[in-house]
Amino acid sequence: MTSRTMVAGNWKMNTTPTQGKALAEDIIAAAGTPPTKVVFGVPAIQLMSIKEITAQHEGYFVAAQNMHHKDNGAYTGELSAAMLADAGVDYVILGHSERREYFGENDSLVNIKINKALNAGLLPIYCCGEKLDIREAGNHEMIVGKQIEQALFSLDPAQMEKVVIAYEPVWAIGTGVTASPEQAQEMHSFIRQMVANQFGDTIANSTTILYGGSVKPDNAEELFGMEDVDGGLVGGASLSVENFVPIIKAR
Ligand code: 13P
Repeated sequence: MTSRTMVAGNWKMNTTPTQGKALAEDIIAAAGTPPTKVVFGVPAIQLMSIKEITAQHEGYFVAAQNMHHKDNGAYTGELSAAMLADAGVDYVILGHSERREYFGENDSLVNIKINKALNAGLLPIYCCGEKLDIREAGNHEMIVGKQIEQALFSLDPAQMEKVVIAYEPVWAIGTGVTASPEQAQEMHSFIRQMVANQFGDTIANSTTILYGGSVKPDNAEELFGMEDVDGGLVGGASLSVENFVPIIKAR
């Protein structure tokens, strides 16, 4: 287990550059020096302008929401790991369920992306999580276990130390239905045990495992209070000062 280490916002395809700049500035002004790392996962077009802001404030970082798995070449519209790193990006969210659902990504592709990101000096935030039918059938640990294995087990320990895991049950994303603190704890503990089995206790205990899926100001404290929940990956509630700041400050 670790303690609370990170609150990350995933803005998804929301905010124009002008809106995003104001949002980041207002959140930082209201939250001050944060108790844990705060990461803004922003649309690609805003990465450099938000980095300019976070670079001036201790505890704040910027994340890309995706990245291509090739180094360079004829992949119109895509961004490489080297481009993100050179732009000053700190983290990259990989394997989000929306990328899996709408863009056909799977864990073998995400595994390649994680390697590329690490080699470029980016810190991956690897997303995993089961769909509702899987949970209802009681197969959630099996499925999430497979995701973890396929995406992460080929890494070497020095690489694994740099990976943040986000458990995001698909049925809880954008639905207003949150996993109960007990459901989150159960899965986080399972994930940490898997990491321990493959990479050892020291790495497992220092791995940040975030919970994502309808985190709000009124449930953040309870979720983050669970032993193996080290913070959150927040979608909708990361888009306003009045929702995100109390989540940053939730203890
Ligand atoms: P919501 O917080 O809007 O449910 O989104 C969660 C998420 O997908 C973060 O990556």
